[in-house]
Amino acid sequence: MSARQHLDQLWSRGRAFLGTELAIMGGAMTWVSDRHLVAAISNAGGFGVIASGSMSPDLLRQEIQATAALTAKPFGVNLITLHPQLDDLIQVCLDEGVGHIVLAGGLPPGTAIRMAKDGGARVMCFAPALVIAKRLIRAGADAIVIEGSEAGGHIGPVSTSVLAQEILPEIRDVPVFVAGGIGRGEAIVSYLEMGAAGVQLGTRFVCATECRAHPNFKQAFIRAGARDAIASVALDSRFPVIPVRALQNEGTKRFMEKQREVIAKFDAGDLDQKEAQLEIEHYWAGALRRAVIEGDVENGSLMAGQSVGMVTREQPVADILADLLMQAEAAVAGRGAAA
Ligand SMILES: Cc1cc2nc3c(=O)[nH]c(=O)nc-3n(C[C@H](O)[C@H](O)[C@H](O)COP(=O)(O)O)c2cc1C
Repeated sequence: MSARQHLDQLWSRGRAFLGTELAIMGGAMTWVSDRHLVAAISNAGGFGVIASGSMSPDLLRQEIQATAALTAKPFGVNLITLHPQLDDLIQVCLDEGVGHIVLAGGLPPGTAIRMAKDGGARVMCFAPALVIAKRLIRAGADAIVIEGSEAGGHIGPVSTSVLAQEILPEIRDVPVFVAGGIGRGEAIVSYLEMGAAGVQLGTRFVCATECRAHPNFKQAFIRAGARDAIASVALDSRFPVIPVRALQNEGTKRFMEKQREVIAKFDAGDLDQKEAQLEIEHYWAGALRRAVIEGDVENGSLMAGQSVGMVTREQPVADILADLLMQAEAAVAGRGAAA
């Protein structure tokens, strides 16, 4: 059996679930994963996912239609469960015949999972722990994504390698996709061997030629090493901050100062708890757009995973996937599994 045949066996469940040649998902990235990147990933054999972020239902409909005009291959849509119009967004996906809906950003309501499934879509949910994965499967999730703290963007506290060990041996009923910190094909093979159906990569696709991100944003990724992608921290447990992994810049430094200022105002009685919490949360409003679209890499949010160190140049999506495939095949061949 050739290395490719062996690899195809390893990720056959993921390929069948996604309807793709490769069980590699391009993780949805707000402002980054638009029609161009998504279609390029799907056209090259992977599975592109539109990031709907805070889009309105009308905007999402336009984006889905524009993506479908660029690719005949399957792609998915990532919806943020906290969006006030979640049901309308699901309806748009169903109207437009989107096959896979990824529910992200908090635990999805059971009603949303059922609505998407009843409309004929497959539902993928993020599980930050084994008990939650089991609960989501009982609620109808067709596949699970586990994303470790190496990932870019909003993260949980547990690393990908530990989540994989906790969850992959236990969850057999539905395919599980592993995300966070994957930059090379060897790592893909190791998660597949542990029982993953496929993988999801975000950071590695940011410097794709087809990606709309501003040249300054891409340049920051190309320059950065793994240790530059730092998780934000809350200064005071009274004012929690959802950790976000991003490249350090002026904005991340000022965020610490901002927290200090707000906490001082709270302690002095100038702000109440709610006002102080909101002021901290609002600090990053619009910051990802500022960096990705406007190219303000000093003050904007440079969300990036630790795998950013493996991003060394701008490359077409097809070349990124070809590199990953080559490394994966070499890993399989190196194990002597392929005769
Ligand atoms: C700039 C950026 C924006 C992201 N936005 C989202 C998002 O809107 N929704 C989501 O579910 N995940 C989001 N993510 C996470 C990715 O979909 C993906 O799971 C993650 O990047 C995988 O880890 P990696 O960065 O180590 O490859 C984002 C990641 C980055 C780097």
